[in-house]
Amino acid sequence: MQHVAHLDETAIEVANLSHIYAGAQGTVPALEEISMRVGSGRFTVIVGPSGCGKTSLLMMLAGLRAQSQGTILCHGRPISDPDPKRVGVIFQEASLYPWLSALDNIEFPLSLRGARERETRQQRRARAEAMLRLVGLEGFGERFPYELSGGMKQRVSIARGLVQDPPVLLMDEPFAALDEQTRMTMGHELLRIWSTMLKTVVFITHSLTEAVYLADEVLVMSARPGRIIDRIAVNLPRPRTYEMMATDVFGQLRDRIWQQIRKTP
Ligand SMILES: Nc1ncnc2c1ncn2[C@@H]1O[C@H](COP(=O)(O)OP(=O)(O)OP(=O)(O)O)[C@@H](O)[C@H]1O
Ligand SMILES: [Mg+2]
Repeated sequence: MQHVAHLDETAIEVANLSHIYAGAQGTVPALEEISMRVGSGRFTVIVGPSGCGKTSLLMMLAGLRAQSQGTILCHGRPISDPDPKRVGVIFQEASLYPWLSALDNIEFPLSLRGARERETRQQRRARAEAMLRLVGLEGFGERFPYELSGGMKQRVSIARGLVQDPPVLLMDEPFAALDEQTRMTMGHELLRIWSTMLKTVVFITHSLTEAVYLADEVLVMSARPGRIIDRIAVNLPRPRTYEMMATDVFGQLRDRIWQQIRKTP
C-alpha cells in the first residue's frame, strides 16, 4: 500500500499551458491548452510529429523557457528558473566537455555548487564514481569523450543528469543519435536505473517501439500547435523484456499511437 500511495503523489502538474513564439517573421502558436499530470515515480513518454512543440514543453518543464499562458507545478511549487536539484535535463546530444574525463564530466555539476554546499572533493568524487558504476562504465572514468563510443558518451550524459539526484528527470530524444542495437540496450539500461532510483521521468521520442517499451503512459501530441490528443496507459508488466515486443498487446499499443499520429496533418 505504501508503494501505491507514493505513486499517487503528483510530481508534475501542467494546467492550460499555451505558448506563442513571437519572431521577426510573425508569431508561431507552438502549444495549445496542454494539461497533464505525472505521478511521482512514473515513466511518461511524449510522442508527436516533428515541430509540434515537444522540446518547447520540456524546456518549460525544466524552467529554461517561460510559457505564454498556464501553470506548471513541480511537487506543488512553480518552476520559474532552472533548478537542477529539482529537475534534471538530458538532451539528444551528449554535449560533454571534451577537455574533461568521463568522471570529471559527471562531477562537473557538483563542483559548480560544491563551494556553496560544503561538500568535500572526496564526497563529490565518490558520488560521481557511484553514477559511473550505475551506468555501467566502471573502468572508463579517466577516458576523454573522444575515446568513448556514442552510446558510452550518452551514458556519461545520463550519469551527469543523475548525479545531482533530482526527483524529476526530463529526457529529450536522448537515444536518437544511436544505432538501433545500442538504443535498445540503452532503453533497457535506463529502465534498470529508473527502477532502482524511483525517479519521475518525462521522455520524448519519435520511436513508437521505444515509447511502448519504456512508458507507464504515452501522451500523443497533435501537429503544431501541439495539443495532447491521446493518453495511452501501457499496462505491460515490469520489468519489461525484449520478448514483450513481439506480443499482440505490444503491437496493438504501438498501432494505437501510430493511428493517432497519422491523423494529424
Ligand atoms: N526559440 C524559438 N523561437 C521561435 N520559434 C521557435 C523557437 N523554438 C521553437 N520554435 C518553433 O516552435 C515549434 C515547436 O518547436 P519544438 O522544437 O518544440 O518542436 P519539437 O516537437 O521538439 O520538434 P522535433 O520533433 O523536430 O524535435 C516549431 O515550429 C519551431 O519552429
Ligand atoms: Mg524536439
